[in-house]
Parts: sequence; structure tokens; C-alpha cells
Amino acid sequence: MCGIVGYIGPRDATPIILNGLKRLEYRGYDSAGLAIVVEDRIEVRRDAGKLARLEELVRAEPVSGAPGIGHTRWATHGSPSVRNAHPHRGSNGRVVVVHNGIVENFLELRDELRAEGVQFSSDTDTETIVHLVEHHLAIGHDLTEAARRTFGQLQGAHGIVLMSADEPDKIVCARIGNAGGVVLGLGEGENFIASDIPAILDHTRQVVFLESRQMAVVRREGVEITSLDGVPVTMRGNVIAWDAAAAEKGEYRHFMQKEIHEQVRSLTDTLAGRVDLHEGRIRLPELNLTPDQACRIRRILITACGTAAYAGMVGKILIEKIARIPVEVQIGSEFRYSDPIVDENTVVLAISQSGETADTLAAMEEGRRKGAVLWSIVNVVGSQAMRISDGSISMQTGPEIGVASTKAFTAPLVDQYMLAILLADLRGTLDEKTRRALVADLRLIPDLAGRTLEREAEVEKVAWALKDVRDCLYLGRGINMPIAYEGALKLKEISYIHAEGYPAGEMKHGPIALIDENMPVVCLAPKDPWHEKMISQIQQARARGGTVIAVATDGDEVVADQADHVLWVPVTPWMLSPVVTAIPLQMLAYHIAAIRGLDVDQPRNLAKSVTVE
Ligand code: G6P
Repeated sequence: MCGIVGYIGPRDATPIILNGLKRLEYRGYDSAGLAIVVEDRIEVRRDAGKLARLEELVRAEPVSGAPGIGHTRWATHGSPSVRNAHPHRGSNGRVVVVHNGIVENFLELRDELRAEGVQFSSDTDTETIVHLVEHHLAIGHDLTEAARRTFGQLQGAHGIVLMSADEPDKIVCARIGNAGGVVLGLGEGENFIASDIPAILDHTRQVVFLESRQMAVVRREGVEITSLDGVPVTMRGNVIAWDAAAAEKGEYRHFMQKEIHEQVRSLTDTLAGRVDLHEGRIRLPELNLTPDQACRIRRILITACGTAAYAGMVGKILIEKIARIPVEVQIGSEFRYSDPIVDENTVVLAISQSGETADTLAAMEEGRRKGAVLWSIVNVVGSQAMRISDGSISMQTGPEIGVASTKAFTAPLVDQYMLAILLADLRGTLDEKTRRALVADLRLIPDLAGRTLEREAEVEKVAWALKDVRDCLYLGRGINMPIAYEGALKLKEISYIHAEGYPAGEMKHGPIALIDENMPVVCLAPKDPWHEKMISQIQQARARGGTVIAVATDGDEVVADQADHVLWVPVTPWMLSPVVTAIPLQMLAYHIAAIRGLDVDQPRNLAKSVTVE
């Protein structure tokens, strides 16, 4: 969850670290800090609150030198305060550490260290790491060995970066388990470390991802990776295609708004090279799927968290409808404790923007343990979810910075639609005419998304009407039911308005009691097979005095007559309709939060990539 940046090279590390942290602030914004080797000592600057506070501090008390490490924190152990901000120093101030993860045995380790006379100056679990390193240095080991021994003592999942004033020629880092990535950026005569790619994109696109239980010694001239047991590892490099500009806000007020508007591009990119209109076929080579394997699949278990899980719910309907394979969706945090029924004919399909969400990775590991085939739909190329999969589909949306996911919601809808067609094709269960028609519909999608986005001004007007509401109900049926969940999630995440998504048919079994003139009801009523049913639901909500905001298909006068406000979407093939119906709800949540003057990109208490259980 926390953001980490490290730099070693001839340049001044301070601006490189501050700039990198800015790109990672979406990962945590409870405090920020940096440590720089200056001559023969280490200087630390850190403050509670957002990165801007640290920047102010550095302006007031400048520091320059190299190497350096920095951190933005999402608090787990210890309140968000200066004393708990990273980097943490050891007793003699010669060693510093930044950390992402939870030292699960920290109470035990702290007691042992206290018994040796160590004094703690924070409430964090992280501080144990630096004292352990000092302990091993004191008995004669060098930094690399002291770090290795320390890493071996820690329980839990971690990304750790540390350095010492006594060995300024190196930074040592490690990844243990799934606490978020540790990415090494390779430059010329300089190298970088980060918890996520955008932090180093300004400097290099050559990256290496550390696997779990690997550590690296990063020097100016090069990088050496070993397992925690000291066995050398051959580096497998990746070249990142994104450019740094893709991680900038540009003309938009917020990343979220920019990312909503990038959906024409992201949907185009996720289709690119995968849709063969001539043959009427789908190609997903990264999935490594043969007809024989496709025929063996008995069941697909989709696992994901948050927005990605709602994308999975749409996928269930698509795969079952098109490929006739039974699909279940289970959120990552439940999957691993549910003793799922999984065998080698089961596919566990994980959906994750970051590819680093701890609960999703744990679900994948459970699937692996039970012999399932592992697939993933992931945005961050090279992330853990992608690496541990047998086959993967890349979302191709480019970096998503806004904490509330938008473009990484619509791309996997299309990816699952393509997957469903491919499965049906390989299993021979789809007639050619239907297959060709389904494939041809895909071609429309970027344009339909573009036409939906053009209606932003109308959505903004509705946002003004709703800006002061306290609660909001979202109703949908069938393939648009998950969009009701997702619309409600978007609103609560960024505007802090209580919002609930509900299957429209269930309204009469409870939520109807809540509907009055203070409870707006957003009804997803595009022209899909559930359209008629939604109209009767709208009438019921109206009859209780609720303000109805309908998402409706252009020209649908019946729905328009029943609704107080309409968010129009273009005519869209029903199986792809969630792509367009999600967009006005993203814009609605965005504008309500922006009108309320809230921090849209970094909503309170949330983090982009949740790497703790
Ligand atoms: C966090 C984010 C959500 C996201 C979820 C899953 O809660 O705030 O926007 O949907 O994690 O993240 P993933 O990276 O696995 O898609």
C-alpha cells in the first residue's frame, strides 16, 4: 500500500525521490519522508500528512546527496504521525529503512530487541527491521549480509529498502510475499527502486521485478539479485511501453477525470491485435490456450476485489451466456477461507488492475495449491498476478493513478467478452454466424464509449442536483446489476455519500422501505433483456416519492417519462452495454465529489493497491 522510491547514482537524489513519490502518492498519503546520504551521514526529512508537507519541509531545510530512499505511508501499525513516518533510523542513525507490509512477529522481535537494550522511537512494526540490521552489523556482518539475516527473521509480506551511511555504494532491497511490488529501474551509471512503475518512468523504461523471497543489492554500476538464501538469480528484464506523460494529469483537473476520458483509447488498445474481423475470431495468444485445454474446463472461478470483482460479475454472465461454462465469482478475501471446490478442470481467473492485491493473490495461490489452471486479467504488466498465472490477458489501459478505478473496470469487461468468444470457439459451441456477429460488435465499442463521454455536461448538471444528498440507491438487473454495485461504489469511495447497489428485483424485499423524497434512486435501464422489468421497478420507486435518475438508451421515451433525470447512453449490443452504462455513473460520482471540493484522486482511508490482508 505504501509507496517506496530509491535512487543511487551521480545525481542529487532528493528531487528524483520527491518526484517519484508524487507519482506514488495514490498508494498512501498518511505521511511522507526521505533519507539522503550526505557526505558521511544520513539526513532524514519526514512529516505527517500529504507529500506537499514533506516538500515544504525540504524547501525549508534543503538536503541533497545520493543515494537516497523515500516513502509515502498508508498507516497500519501506529497512527499517521511524524514519529511513525518512514524512513526509520536505527539507534546510531547510520542505517535507514523504508517498508511496505506488516512485520507479523514484530511484538516478539521488539521484546527481544528491548531485552538487548534497544530503545524504540516509533510505534511501527517497521522500526524492528532497522534495529535488527544494526544488531547484525554490530556483530561484524556487512550491510548485505545483515539485511539478509534480518529478512530471514521477518514474518509476513514485505517490500523493504534500506541503506547505510557506512556503505554508501549500495541500497539493499527485498520482496517477501505479496506486500506489493519491488521494481528495479535500470539506468546508465544510475539505478532506481520503486514499489510501482510510474515512480521511475521519467528516468528509465528498463525494469526488473523482484519475485517473492528475492533481494537485490543495487549499486550505481549495476544490480545483483539473489534469493534470500543467497543463490544468484538471473535477471529477467521488462521494457515498459508507457511513457511518463501517461502518468500526468495534463489538461484535466484530476487523474480520475482524465482516466474516465481515456476509455476510448484504453478500449481500443485492449482490442488491438485481438479481434480478427476477417475470420470473425478472437486471438488471445498470452492465454496459451489450446482447443484440448478449452474442452477440459468444467468450471471457472473468478476472483477479485472491489471494482475488479464487479467486472467479474459481468464476466460471469458473458462467459455463461456465450461459452456455456459455469462461472462463479468470489471476492479474494473470502476465496482463500472458503475451502473452494477446485480441481485441475477448474480455471481460477483473477482480475486485478494492479496485479498486486494481497487478497486476490492469496486466492490465486489457493487455486494453485488445489491444482487449478490460473488465468489473470491484469493491467500492470509484470505484476505478481501476471507472473504466477498460466495465462494472462493484459488490460492495456496504461497507468491508472486515481484511486477509484475507472478505465481498469471497462477494459476487463471487454476482455472477458473476448475470452468468452474464444472459449466457445475452441470448444466448438458457437455457430459461425453468431460468432462473427459477436466479434463484429466489438468494433463498435470505442466509438460508443466516446459518444457516452461526450455527454459529460449533462451528467454534470445531474451532479449539481444530487450534490447534497446523504444516501443514494443504485438498482440494476441482469448484466447491468453489477453496474449498480459499481456505480454505488464509485459514489461512496470519492464523495463519502452512503450509496448502495442492489439487484432491482430485490428492492421490494427491503430497500423500498428507505425510499422517500430524500433518497434518490439511480436505475440502470438500458435496452437490454431486462429492460421491461426495470421499467416496473422505476415505477415502484416513483410511487414511493423517490427521485429517479435513469441510465437509458437514446430515444427511450418510456423510461424518460418515468424519470426525473436521464443519463443517456447510445444504442449498444446488450452484452456490451455495461461498458457504456458504467461511464455516466463514473462521471456522476466524479462530478459530485469535485463539486463537493473533495480530494477525488486520493479519497480518505483508501489506497490504490491494497497489499495487506
Ligand atoms: C482498492 C482500490 C479499488 C480496486 C481494488 C482492487 O480497493 O481502491 O479501486 O478496485 O483495490 O484492486 P486491483 O488492483 O486488484 O484491481
